[in-house]
Amino acid sequence: MKKRIPILAANWKMHKTIEEMREFFSSFLPLVEGVSGRQIVIAPSFVGIMEACRLTSGSQVKIAAQNMYFEEQGAFTGEISPLMIRSAGAGTVILGHSERRHVFGEGDELISKKVKSAVDHGLHAILCIGETLEERNQGQTGEVLGRQLGKGLSKLNGDDFVGISIAYEPVWAIGTGQTASIEQIQKAHDFVRLTVAEHAGEPVAEQIRILYGGSVKPGNVKQIMELEDVDGALVGGASLEPESFAGIVKFEEN
Ligand code: 13P
Repeated sequence: MKKRIPILAANWKMHKTIEEMREFFSSFLPLVEGVSGRQIVIAPSFVGIMEACRLTSGSQVKIAAQNMYFEEQGAFTGEISPLMIRSAGAGTVILGHSERRHVFGEGDELISKKVKSAVDHGLHAILCIGETLEERNQGQTGEVLGRQLGKGLSKLNGDDFVGISIAYEPVWAIGTGQTASIEQIQKAHDFVRLTVAEHAGEPVAEQIRILYGGSVKPGNVKQIMELEDVDGALVGGASLEPESFAGIVKFEEN
């Protein structure tokens, strides 16, 4: 039995029209009905949030956003604020995803402002961190994770930490089919928990959920979830099909 309630989260990235989303939920919700002891979170595109909330109301599935800007409103063309996410019905936001960092050039300072703003506005933030293959090969994994985490958490204090989770997603394992090894995952998660303890203290580190992301599938999720410091999964490709994501949600049965 896990000490912390696991989170099984789907990051749909730039996938699914509203019609495709409706189809997904009509198959997925019956598959996870009655599943307990975990949180199920799905992050559709911004334009899908309201409809996803409507489709999942009364179920245990919670809806998340994939990103946000830290300001409440203003002249920021193309951006979405925490107030908008809340009013659309989502309670969680993914921040600092590697695609935000590497495709859209987001840096640690910007991400730290987003994390603080999310928490201040009552959103649960999933802060994503992870090294590239080059960084791993050069022995810089600890340094990179330490920096992304340290900066990402730098504006939080006290109770703020209750409002966040961390997702360790090695960039080289995202969408590649190449999952990090069990040893690599446990080592990184252990490092993340120790680093959180340094920044926020032991009690925070003990309760914070650390998710793994990177080619999680129904066939490997059980083994990953059994690791002591893994408290959930953040899933891209394998979350797009109802049966596949339901298999991940019900990870013990695999
Ligand atoms: P994949 O599961 O497709 O590797 O994506 C992981 C991810 O980026 C989740 O945020």
